[in-house]
Amino acid sequence: MVVVKSSKPNRKHFMLYCFISIFFLCILASINELRFDNLVSFGRCSLSNSSSISNKQQQEIRILIGILTLPDQYLRRHFLRLVYGTQNPEGAKIDVKFVFCNLTKEEQKTTIALEIMRYNDIIILNCTENMNKGKTSTFFTTLPSIFNETVKGPNYPPYHYVMKADDDTYVRLNSLVKSLKPLPSEDLYYGFVIPCGSMDPFKHYMSGMGFLVSWDIVEWIHGSDIPKKHVEGPEDKVFGDWMRWGRRGLNRYNAKWAMYNYPDPPSVCSHDLVHDTIAVHLLKNQEKWVKTLNFFNHTAPLMQSNLYQHLS
Ligand SMILES: *[C@@H]1O[C@H](CO)[C@@H](O)[C@H](O)[C@H]1NC(C)=O
Ligand SMILES: *[C@@H]1O[C@H](CO)[C@@H](O)[C@H](O)[C@H]1NC(C)=O
Ligand SMILES: *[C@@H]1O[C@H](CO)[C@@H](O)[C@H](O)[C@H]1NC(C)=O
Ligand SMILES: *[C@@H]1O[C@H](CO)[C@@H](O)[C@H](O)[C@H]1NC(C)=O
Ligand SMILES: *[C@@H]1O[C@H](CO)[C@@H](O)[C@H](O)[C@H]1NC(C)=O
Repeated sequence: MVVVKSSKPNRKHFMLYCFISIFFLCILASINELRFDNLVSFGRCSLSNSSSISNKQQQEIRILIGILTLPDQYLRRHFLRLVYGTQNPEGAKIDVKFVFCNLTKEEQKTTIALEIMRYNDIIILNCTENMNKGKTSTFFTTLPSIFNETVKGPNYPPYHYVMKADDDTYVRLNSLVKSLKPLPSEDLYYGFVIPCGSMDPFKHYMSGMGFLVSWDIVEWIHGSDIPKKHVEGPEDKVFGDWMRWGRRGLNRYNAKWAMYNYPDPPSVCSHDLVHDTIAVHLLKNQEKWVKTLNFFNHTAPLMQSNLYQHLS
């Protein structure tokens, strides 16, 4: 009883105190309205600036995927444009470009000019088509001068990462981006380590099915003598030699077994298609492409429409 009685006047006092405080605060606020407004707009301003910066950092991982192919592979390019053009990677801007050496036939100049006018996704290097005589080397060496317009500007580097991929590899862009997010953005050498049986990313080198490096390594290749002196040989092995000799790519990431060869024919480098996949290699015919696309529900986002009744 005693406790209850004595608490009542205390509560009244407290509420009166609150009212007075709020009243005072209101007067203070109205006096300082101008200053307060400034504070709010400043807060808004710095907030929006900082959020746009962090958005940039989070959203704009810029990746170039160079698919090495031959000028005459029109149909393959057509198909790959569909495969990559129908993926919407989150948190990244990914440019897929087809890479080849000098055109050799007169007709190519017209047909490939048409492709460039329509898609602008072709890089023609100053080299003669070759398997193991440095096309990949020319590709990486030339990149800094091709994408030189951002040099040291706000959009530098033009790409944070550059991937070299084969034209029989299916890269799942979202999985690729997710796997890159936690990784270092410099001195990175990423891929499927060779030999197939090894899980040690420093063992030999990353398979040519699809390996990726950060932009600082691209610039190093451009400037260093090591790649210039060692050009001939299997492109992926040669690339690995540069990394070892130049002590580059000390941040290595082995994406095995999220990257692998198509299960048929079975080999040490292949396994069944699985949910967590970044890339499937050796899609040597249309049947393998279709089975792979179906496994990953690639066409599931297709909208319903009266235009096509019997597609799903
Ligand atoms: C916010 O960005 C705008 C335009 O980008 C700039 O003019 C302003 O100075 C920036 N404000 C702050 C607080 O950084
Ligand atoms: C292209 O390569 C040839 C032979 O390697 C060389 O003579 C020529 O100067 C190069 N052209 C350009 C534009 O770099
Ligand atoms: C590629 O073509 C250009 C222009 O036709 C020529 O100047 C250059 O020498 C060629 N390069 C090679 C390596 O064949
Ligand atoms: C980029 O390269 C082109 C052609 O080689 C050259 O004309 C241009 O000045 C270069 N731009 C920069 C910013 O270096
Ligand atoms: C594809 O869709 C089926 C049916 O909805 C689902 O069971 C399967 O897990 C999906 N596959 C992948 C790789 O997401």
